[in-house]
Amino acid sequence: MPRSEPIKAARGVHDILPADLPRWRAAQRAAEETATRYGYEEIITPLIEQAELIERIGADTDAVSKELYRFEKRGTQNLALRPEATAGVVRAYFENGLNQGPKPSRLYLIGPMFRYDKPQQGRYRQFYQFNVEVIGGGSPGFDAEVIELAQEWLTEVGLQDLRLEVNSIGDSRCRPAYLEKLKEYYRPLQSQLGGDSQLRLERNPLRLLDSKVPHEQQFKQNAPKINDHLCEECAAHWSMVKRLLDAAEIEHEVNPYLVRGLDYYTRTVFEFYPGGATGQQDALVAGGRYDGLAEAEGWPSTPGVGFAGGIDRVTEQIDATAIPPRPAADVVVLPDGELPLEAAEVARICRSVRSVAVDYEPKSLAAKMRLANRLGAKWVVLLTPDEASRRMARVRDMSSGAQEQLDWAELPTRLA
Ligand code: HAM
Repeated sequence: MPRSEPIKAARGVHDILPADLPRWRAAQRAAEETATRYGYEEIITPLIEQAELIERIGADTDAVSKELYRFEKRGTQNLALRPEATAGVVRAYFENGLNQGPKPSRLYLIGPMFRYDKPQQGRYRQFYQFNVEVIGGGSPGFDAEVIELAQEWLTEVGLQDLRLEVNSIGDSRCRPAYLEKLKEYYRPLQSQLGGDSQLRLERNPLRLLDSKVPHEQQFKQNAPKINDHLCEECAAHWSMVKRLLDAAEIEHEVNPYLVRGLDYYTRTVFEFYPGGATGQQDALVAGGRYDGLAEAEGWPSTPGVGFAGGIDRVTEQIDATAIPPRPAADVVVLPDGELPLEAAEVARICRSVRSVAVDYEPKSLAAKMRLANRLGAKWVVLLTPDEASRRMARVRDMSSGAQEQLDWAELPTRLA
C-alpha cells in the first residue's frame, strides 16, 4: 500500500507550543488583570453565530464579504464562525437582559476568531483576541478609558514603545455630506485607481483612505479630511476625547486617514502599533465607538465603544527572554532497569510537593540523565533494583551534583 503524506494543519492556522505558552499566558493574564482593575467583567459568547448577525457588521466589511467562514446550511439557520466578537457581545448584552442592569456594562472577552485572511506572519485564519466593550455609555470618557486600558495592557506585557493613532469619523448626521465631498474629490482620479478602490468609490468611499496600494497613497494628501467636517456634537465629543488623552498623558497622533476595516464605527477610532513599525505593519490593538451597531442588529439604539487586541501578535512582540520558561518537571525519577511499579510509586510520593516526570524507557542511565538535563529538572531521583527493594532512593541535586540516599518516606521533606 502506498504511504500517504502526513496530514498537516489547515492553511493559515498555527499551533501554540509549550515554549510559547509562558508568553501567551502572560499576555492573557495581563489582559484579565488590567480589565478587572478597570471594573470590567468577563463574558464568553459562542464561536458560532447566525450568519445574519455577522452580516449586520456591514456588507462591505472584508471580514464579512470575503473572509467569513460559513457553514453549509444545517436545519433552518445559516451559521458562521465569528470573525470578531463585538457583534456577538452586543447581541448577548440584549438577549440576556444586561441592558436592564446598571449602565453601562463593562465587559471583556478572550477567545478565538476566524477569518479567511491571506495567511502571513501575524495574520492567521484562527487567531485570538482580547476584547473590551463598554455598552450603554455614550460619553467621551469611555472612549478615553478603553484607550487607556489598552495602553496599560500593552505596557504591562512589556511593550513600552508604542504608537497610538486616533481619529474621529463622525456619525450618521455628518458623515454622509463628507462622503459626498470625498467622492467628488476621487471621481476625477477614478481611472488611476485600482479595482478594489474603484468599487469602494461608490460603495464605501471612506475605505479609499485605507487603501494599501502604493501609488494610491499620494491621492490621500489632498483629500478632504473627515475631522474637518464633523457636526457640532461629534466635534465636541472628539475634542473631549483628545483632552482626556492629554490629561492622562497618553501620547497619540491624530491620523485623519484612519478609518478602520469594519463598517460599524462612529466617531472615535484608534489603533496601537509597535513603536518602530513603519509602513503597512499590522495593528496590535484596534477599536472605536460603534453607536449604530445595536440598532443595526435590531435592538434599541444604544451606544458602545471598545477594542480588540490580537493576542497572537502581542505575544510575538514579547521578548522571549523576558519570561523565563518553567521546567516541565522539577523532579525526574530515573529507575535503573525495569522498575515501573516502584518508579511510579516514588513519583506519586514526590508529586505531593513537586512536579514530577518518570522515565520508564529501558535506556542507559547516561541517556536518562541527559533527558533530565534537557527537561531542566532541579533534582533527579535514582532508583536501582536493590534500593527499590529496601524502599530507598538517591536524590541528586542537578545544580551542585550532590547526592544523598534517603528512605522513600523522607522524599517529600527533602524536596519541599
Ligand atoms: P480588528 O481591527 O478587525 O477589530 O481586529 C482587532 C485586532 O485583532 C487587530 O488589531 C489584530 O491585532 C487582531 N487580528 C485581526 N485579524 C487578525 C488575524 N487574521 N490574525 C491575527 N490577528 C488578527 C475588531 O475585531 C473589532 N471587533 C475591535 C473592536 C472591539 N472594536 C470595538 N470593539
